[in-house]
Amino acid sequence: MKREKWTGKMGFILVSVGSAIGLGNIWLFSWRVGEYGGAAFLIPYLLFVFGIASVGLMEEWAFGRSQVKGAIGAFENVFEEKKEGAGKIGAALGFIPVAAVFSIYIFYAIVIGWLLKYFFLSFTGAFNVINIPEYFGTFTGTANTIGWHAVAVIGTMVIVFFGVQRGIEKANKIMMPVLFAILLILVIRSVTLEGAMDGIKYIFVPEWSKLAEVKTWIMALGQAFFTLSLGGATMLVYGSYARDDTDIPSASIQAVSFNFMASMLAALAIIPAVFAFGLDPAAGPGLLFVSIPTVFAKMPGGYIFGILFFLSVVFAGFSSSVSMLEPAVEGFMDKTGFSRGKAVLLLSVVAFLIGLPLDVDMSKFGTWADITTIYVLPFGAFVAAVVFFWVFGADKARAEINKNSNIRFGKWFEPYGKYIFVLVAFVVLVLNIIYGGIG
Ligand code: TRP
Repeated sequence: MKREKWTGKMGFILVSVGSAIGLGNIWLFSWRVGEYGGAAFLIPYLLFVFGIASVGLMEEWAFGRSQVKGAIGAFENVFEEKKEGAGKIGAALGFIPVAAVFSIYIFYAIVIGWLLKYFFLSFTGAFNVINIPEYFGTFTGTANTIGWHAVAVIGTMVIVFFGVQRGIEKANKIMMPVLFAILLILVIRSVTLEGAMDGIKYIFVPEWSKLAEVKTWIMALGQAFFTLSLGGATMLVYGSYARDDTDIPSASIQAVSFNFMASMLAALAIIPAVFAFGLDPAAGPGLLFVSIPTVFAKMPGGYIFGILFFLSVVFAGFSSSVSMLEPAVEGFMDKTGFSRGKAVLLLSVVAFLIGLPLDVDMSKFGTWADITTIYVLPFGAFVAAVVFFWVFGADKARAEINKNSNIRFGKWFEPYGKYIFVLVAFVVLVLNIIYGGIG
């Protein structure tokens, strides 16, 4: 079977941006930017996302591209090259990030299920009828979520089934432009509402004193890693489908910029509207499933804007969920020789079945989400960084990143990756554990 490739650099950037833009941009960023100092938060955030996390992005892409394999095969190759027979250890290590991202997929699909339900509710005009604050609690954690969860799993499955070009790339080519267009429309609506100014201030007025708080820096760092989907599996497998002539440093600048743009647009679409109606700009599910539907119930034209909003979030969800399923599918195909169809079907069934107990029990759901995002995912990001910069080697790493690029990193990049980036990836893991999650 011939390995597929993205159609070109644009397609590669698009799918990576699709992975990067997800709930992290919507329900975390918009709240964090306000909570941790407004414009002042952007300083550590931009510093970390462009200065540190983008190195992780280039590392994962270049690692995948150099080995033309996902994490399992790639780790196996570089270990075997170092020492004959060590390949098995590499493969076992590579299994960790793939399993981590797959475990995230398991609960992410459940959240997409909730989003689909709310998309449906927006259609039926239900936000004007139901008791919004109560509704979320009566819906989640019950068997009523199972059907929606199934739709999310099937949707992801269908996209991944059609493969790299005709599935993932094509879906992103439709979803990403629509997502940006909708966000723009929503921003215009949101900032022109009466009382929107307080929300704009919440986002933009810099509270410089927050920069003196360690927590601001920690949250910005966690955000930077999570938002770029660093975990040693997703961006690595996406890189493995990149053509050799793809300019990785320039693609990284573009992907990070688009991702940042989406975060800012989401914040501007959400926060001013939330303030205009005197609601709580809470973080996480409370923002998305309580404050926002309440906004649409009250806002002029809220019916249409509500539909658009939930459609855009559903798109953000699917473009991320496919990127969580693909690493496992690639690894499975590579190791067993199964066809894509069989691998996708099997893994989707497994993900759905493991997710079932989480559907009906919110405390199990919370535990699962915590363990996977706090411990396993940052561990995967750290391991990938060590294997790339230390086992594969910092000199080869730099050469692969520089390959066919107009931007050439000098010798300094080697200690930067080997010591600074690896250390920061380790610190992210430790801080996650200490703080109980920062991503
Ligand atoms: N970056 C996405 C977000 O911000 C989440 C995501 C998608 C992700 N794929 C990933 C996170 C892989 C870690 C690993 O919501």
